[in-house]
Formats: sequence, structure tokens, C-alpha cells
Amino acid sequence: MKENMLVMNKLKIVSAAILTVAVVTGITSCGDKKSPGMEFARNMYDPIAYNPDQPNKNFANGQTAQTPPEGTMPVGYDPVTDIYPNTPEGYQAASTSLHNPLPVNKQTLLEGRTLYLHMCSHCHGEQGKGDGAIVANQKFPPPPSYSSGNSSRGGAMKDLTDGKIFHTITYGLNLMGPHRTQLNPTERWKIVMYVHELQKLQ
Ligand code: HEC
Repeated sequence: MKENMLVMNKLKIVSAAILTVAVVTGITSCGDKKSPGMEFARNMYDPIAYNPDQPNKNFANGQTAQTPPEGTMPVGYDPVTDIYPNTPEGYQAASTSLHNPLPVNKQTLLEGRTLYLHMCSHCHGEQGKGDGAIVANQKFPPPPSYSSGNSSRGGAMKDLTDGKIFHTITYGLNLMGPHRTQLNPTERWKIVMYVHELQKLQ
């Protein structure tokens, strides 16, 4: 009987302790809603390097983030898009003064062909006749043929210049989307030289 009482008391003490811990945890965790609670390995939150918005006494103006020097270009920046904007004037300016800087040879043409087949042929067709797979299967309106069609901006497609084709790949035109994030300038030029080959077809 005595032993039973002892067991009962122990149980009461243990459950009271558990209850207290639960209540205290409950109260303290609800106190500050913004607090992240217990933080484990604090030094993993705070980088050794300065954060951009942190004060910094190493610089005269006391800030970490500094204005980049004049003429700084972000990685992958394509200055062509500043000089030849996506406007009718930009298109004409590209036509007169933008020329393919790459050598036209078997190697670059073959690379241009591969890129063309991956990026353009599903709309324009393998031969550039405006009969790509999505035109045939999904009722996409056919783009004009490079060799026999007319540009919606005026003139025959076969007369499109280096600059006009480069501008079109960069910005797209109506139903054709822009390709400047998928193709870097060198890749665009390789495609331009291959499109020139397709313009010559009968
Ligand atoms: C989603 C289908 C589609 C893809 C992909 C596409 N085009 Fe086009 N493209 C068109 C259509 C449609 C037009 C006609 C747009 C218009 O005149 O309204 C066009 C027009 C053009 C023109 C004529 C521009 C002008 O000034 O009239 C050129 C050049 C051209 N595309 C080249 C390319 C090249 C090179 C690629 C691959 C990098 C490509 N296109 C990818 C659908 C596409």
C-alpha cells in the first residue's frame, strides 16, 4: 500500500514537471512573434564578409555597397542592345552599321546550322521556308520564307541584312519571341550567317 502511494507520488511529480515545461515553453515561445526562436550555430547566419547594407568604416562614406566605377558592365551584358534599341530606328540603324564580326567558313556555318536547327527550325522550317513543325501541327501562322517571302517591315526576306537578322534574333518580332537570353552574340552571328545561306535557296 505504502509502495503504491510512492509510485503515485512519483507519477504526480513527473507529470507536474512535464506540464510546467510545456506551459513555460508555450508562454515564452509566443512572446515575441518576430524572434526566430532558438538559433543554432549563430555564425552560419552572419557571413564573415560585410552585407551590402551594413555600415562599413573602411570606406569614406561609411557604406559597404559602393557605386560601381564608370563604364562597369554586368557579367553577360550585351552593349549592342543599348546602341540598337528595339525600335524601328534601332532596326534600321542595325541594318546600316551592324556587321558580322566572325569569319564565314565551314566550321562557323556548321555551328550556325546546328544552332538554327535547335532554335529556329521548329517555326521557320529546316530550309527556312516557313513550314516548321509547329506550323504544320499546331496551326501556328507560318513565318515568311527567307528566300521567297516578304518581311512585314517591308522588303523581301532574301534581302534582309546582317543587322536586321541580328536585331530580329535579339528582340523577336510579333509572334517570334526574343532570343537574346538563350543565344549569346557569337551564337546569334553564327545563325545570321546560316540564315544568309537559306536566303539563297530557290
Ligand atoms: C515561335 C516561332 C519562331 C521562332 C522560334 C523563331 N521565329 Fe523568326 N519569325 C517567326 C514569325 C511568326 C515571324 C514573322 C513575324 C512578323 O513579321 O510579324 C518571324 C520573322 C523572322 C525574321 C524576319 C524579320 C523581319 O524583319 O521581317 C527573321 C530574320 C527571323 N524570324 C529569324 C529567326 C531566327 C534566326 C530564329 C532562331 C534564332 C527565329 N527566327 C526563331 C517565328 C519564329
